Amino acid sequence: MSSELRYDGKVAIITGAGNGLGRQHALMFAARGARVVVNDLGGGIHGEGKSSAAADKVVEEIRAAGGEAVANYDSVEDGDRIVQTALDAFGTLDIVVNNAGILRDSSFHKMTQADWDLIVRVHLHGAFRVSHAAWPILRDKGYGRIIMTTSAAGIYGNFGQANYSAAKLALVGLANTLAQEGRAKNIHVNTIAPIAGSRLTETVLPPELIAALKPEYVSPLLGWLCHEDCKESGSLFEVGAGYIGKLRWERSKGRSLPLGRPFSAEDVARHWAQIGDFTDAEHPGNINESMAPLLANMNSKSLGGNEFIDLDQAMNSE
Ligand code: NAI
Repeated sequence: MSSELRYDGKVAIITGAGNGLGRQHALMFAARGARVVVNDLGGGIHGEGKSSAAADKVVEEIRAAGGEAVANYDSVEDGDRIVQTALDAFGTLDIVVNNAGILRDSSFHKMTQADWDLIVRVHLHGAFRVSHAAWPILRDKGYGRIIMTTSAAGIYGNFGQANYSAAKLALVGLANTLAQEGRAKNIHVNTIAPIAGSRLTETVLPPELIAALKPEYVSPLLGWLCHEDCKESGSLFEVGAGYIGKLRWERSKGRSLPLGRPFSAEDVARHWAQIGDFTDAEHPGNINESMAPLLANMNSKSLGGNEFIDLDQAMNSE
């Protein structure tokens, strides 16, 4: 058996740690030696109200088990205050788990501006605010681990969750760029799409499923992703019920149309089957890889393309 992955000396902020997944993440990090900021606004699942009780209860649980934790009751919209709590209590910061969340489900034609704004503010703006306040500290120390919590509803869409889907998938974009900007400073940023029984899911899933889908089955992925030995960054995982899988983009080989003559919607229609054919599909992992077939087409004289264009040269000639 491998040796235990410990977090001694590390400081972790877990947002929305008063319930569900966040609580479990906080208990896990604390049990492995991390000092934990248990953030929770203590409101209802639709973003109403606030209370210190949820965060306090988890802090008590951690302390009773011999761990170290402090509570913070601010909304993630005031992320700088949560980071300040970590600095005041523990003097530094190493790990940020953006987990806090609410729901304001409604079919799109009934969705109000308030439903949209609140979800974007808590999920997207909140993760931005906490991560942005943490960023200079992590950069200065040359170490950091950040987790974004997205959702299958964001990845695949889900009826009645246009606001939530949009905010949740935006977090994947945020994580992808932060992973690139953080790489040189040893800041790793990954995204999880969990599924677990919680007060959020008990409104939509039957009780036996809620009981079976334990948050304990999600936290171990964070236990590895946030560890100093783990080199993973810029990745997206689906996790729940003991299953962990990694996602990536897949793109069909596609069809390049000759550039030497005008082409039209009829040409697109004629090649539609080939454009959508996933035989020999590609998996671009960054913008350069994504651009490769476009460049090949531009540079293919036989297809009527231009003179050779060197992407690096073209981009740097400004
Ligand atoms: P939960 O409702 O049990 O826990 C969320 C916690 O976040 C609550 O304690 C709540 O008070 C806190 N919170 C809400 N707004 C806050 C704010 N503005 N500032 C600080 N704290 C705030 O929910 P659950 O299921 O544990 O969800 C955790 C995260 O996982 C959420 O981001 C959710 O969208 C995401 N998720 C959960 C899934 C599931 O199956 N449970 C599925 C996909 C995503």
